[in-house]
Amino acid sequence: MEMKEEMSYKAAEVERFLYRYLPDEAHGYQKNVFKAMNYSVTAGGKRLRPILMLETYKLFGGNGKAIYPFAAAMEMIHTYSLVHDDLPAMDNDMLRRGKPTTHAKFGEAMGILAGDGLLNYAFETAFLAFDEDPTNTNIPRALKVLAKKAGIYGMIGGQVVDVEEDQQNGISRNRLNFIYALKTGALIEASMMIGAILAGATDEQVDLMEQVASKIGLAFQIQDDILDVTSDTETLGKEVGSDIKNNKITYVVFEGIERSKSDVKRLTDEAIEILNDLPYENPFLTELLEFLVYREK
Ligand code: IPE
Ligand code: IPE
Ligand code: MG
Ligand code: MG
Ligand code: MG
Repeated sequence: MEMKEEMSYKAAEVERFLYRYLPDEAHGYQKNVFKAMNYSVTAGGKRLRPILMLETYKLFGGNGKAIYPFAAAMEMIHTYSLVHDDLPAMDNDMLRRGKPTTHAKFGEAMGILAGDGLLNYAFETAFLAFDEDPTNTNIPRALKVLAKKAGIYGMIGGQVVDVEEDQQNGISRNRLNFIYALKTGALIEASMMIGAILAGATDEQVDLMEQVASKIGLAFQIQDDILDVTSDTETLGKEVGSDIKNNKITYVVFEGIERSKSDVKRLTDEAIEILNDLPYENPFLTELLEFLVYREK
C-alpha cells in the first residue's frame, strides 16, 4: 500500500473510536454546541496526532485500551485549537478541512463555545481511561502531560505569542522558535510522550520521545508555512495565503522556501536518528515521519 493510502486507512481507524466518544447531538437544550463540536471533529483532517500516539504506543509494546480515550482526547484538543485559531479575532479564516469553519457555519459565539466544549470534553474523555483500562497505572502521568502541553506552557502559550507577533515590529529568531515549539510542537510532543507513557516506557525513553516529537513538530509547522505559500486551497482544504493576509512572519519569511524545505528534511532525519537509537522499532512510524517531509496537505 502507498503511504498516502495507508494514512487514510489509519485515519479511518482513528475515526472509528473517536466518533464513539462524541456527544449525542439529538438531545438537550444545548444541542447546538454538540452539533458544532461534532461538525468540527468529523469534518476530516489527517488525524496525525492520534496516529502518532498509537504508533508510539506500539513502538513501546503497548497493547491495552487506555490509549483510545487519550488519542480521542488529543484530537479533540487539536480540533478545538483549530476552531479558535480560525476565529475572526485570530486568523479569521473561513475554510478548514475543506468545509466552512465552525464559526462561519454556526456563528462566532458558538465557535467559541464549541472550542471550549471540545477542550473540556477532551478531559472528560481522557478520564474514561480509568474505567476502560483499570489496570494501567500510568494514566495519571499521561493526564499530567496532556494538561500541561495543551495549556499556557504548551499550545495556548504558543498561540499567545503568535497573535502578538506583528510584521512591523519584527521578530527574533528565538521568539519564532518559541512560537513553533509551543503552538505546534507541544501537542505533537504530548502525543508521542503519552503513547510511550501508557505503554510503560521509562522516564528516559519518554524524554527521548519528547525530543523526537519536538523536531517533528517544528518540521511540521515549517511545512505548514511552506504549503500556505505553495499549495492551493483545494488541496489544502484551508485558505492558502492566510499567513500573508495576517502579516505573519513565518519561518518561510525568515529563511526562504528552499532553506525551509531543507530544514524540514534535516529536522526529520535528526528525529529518525534518535528513534533508531532505541532498542525497539516500528518501521511504519519511521516511514510516516519520512512521508510528512513531502506531505501536500
Ligand atoms: C494544522 O494541523 C495546524 C497546525 C498545527 C499546522 P494539521 O495540519 O494536523 O490539521 P488537520 O488535523 O489535518 O486538519
Ligand atoms: C496554528 O498555526 C497552530 C495551532 C495551534 C492551531 P496556523 O495558524 O499556521 O495553522 P493553520 O495554518 O491555520 O492550520
Ligand atoms: Mg494561527
Ligand atoms: Mg491559522
Ligand atoms: Mg498555517
